Amino acid sequence: MLDLTFIRSELAAHYDLAPDPDLAAKMSPIYAKIDKVVTPFDFATFAPYIAAINALKAERNAAILAHNYMTPEIYHGVADVVGDSLQLAIEATKVQADVIVQCGVHFMAETSKVLNPSKIVLIPDMDAGCSLAESITQAGIAEMRARYPGAPVVSYVNTTAEVKAASDICCTSSNAAQIVAGLPDETVIMTPDKYLAQNVAKLVPHKNIVWWDGSCIVHEQYTAEDLREFRSWNPGTRIIAHPECPPDVVAESDFSGSTAGIIAYVEKEQPEKAMLVTECSMASNIAEANPAVDFVGPCNMCPYMKKITLEKILWSLHSMETPVEVDAAVAEGARQAVQRMIDLSQKLAA
Ligand code: 13P
Ligand code: SF4
Repeated sequence: MLDLTFIRSELAAHYDLAPDPDLAAKMSPIYAKIDKVVTPFDFATFAPYIAAINALKAERNAAILAHNYMTPEIYHGVADVVGDSLQLAIEATKVQADVIVQCGVHFMAETSKVLNPSKIVLIPDMDAGCSLAESITQAGIAEMRARYPGAPVVSYVNTTAEVKAASDICCTSSNAAQIVAGLPDETVIMTPDKYLAQNVAKLVPHKNIVWWDGSCIVHEQYTAEDLREFRSWNPGTRIIAHPECPPDVVAESDFSGSTAGIIAYVEKEQPEKAMLVTECSMASNIAEANPAVDFVGPCNMCPYMKKITLEKILWSLHSMETPVEVDAAVAEGARQAVQRMIDLSQKLAA
């Protein structure tokens, strides 16, 4: 666990991190992207961190890859690339900088390292895990293979490199149905998200999909009854759910897609009112670009994603902590599973 007292004293010795309204005023193009969701007072506290991170990024020749669930000050203030898991994996292969700072959870940093092993990949907090990635090990994959002999294993990218290496191919929430449909086999094992698997099973009814019993602690909290109740109070609201939600929640929604799919849907459809049935930062990050859309309803916070803060990103670049390492043989197996996914999804999209 990070020693924040030590980190704060070290950072204070090297940077002027006091809230600075004048510096904040100079960063008005950044603030203009988040002024609906961040107060001027808070932005004055973020500004010195944003300035220090962006200066260090240039000094270290680093690129920041940030997931769509990062907070707005990270997403709009310091990220070089933002996206869903698939976009970040593809972008990781293209990074020219020497250092990648992965602002997301650990499996995402591992994926970047596996796909671009010559880079130093840093994660600002090693404890940024994922309930799905923690729900299965290689032994779980072996158990599923023994139960369904000959069936290919499609593992969600929300898994460790060891699990990816033990799988035949990966998928993300944006390509899961296409990957499963694109395989020649009738029975397909999907791990570790039972809800993603059940949602895919509805989209690919001619396949016999079997699944591991994992779930996302953020998306499993939503219920179809809550959505029905919300809709009855707020008629006309477009409900948009991530496919890690239970199938009855997805059935209750107007659209389901990956985080990038959700953003694209909102941008295209411009609904008057939208409820994003996913992590809270999603609506905050796209509020400014979609001024005609009123984002309504409850959201759930991912405690793992929220471990990544501006302070920890600055520390990461300052100290070059913590590099993500993956055993070479495991990395090669994982790389093949992720590369098969990228190749198949690009082929199917062509
Ligand atoms: P996306 O690939 O849709 O961004 O999902 C990643 C994730 O962890 C969602 O909970
Ligand atoms: Fe994992 Fe769920 Fe958090 Fe995504 S939202 S990182 S799936 S725990």
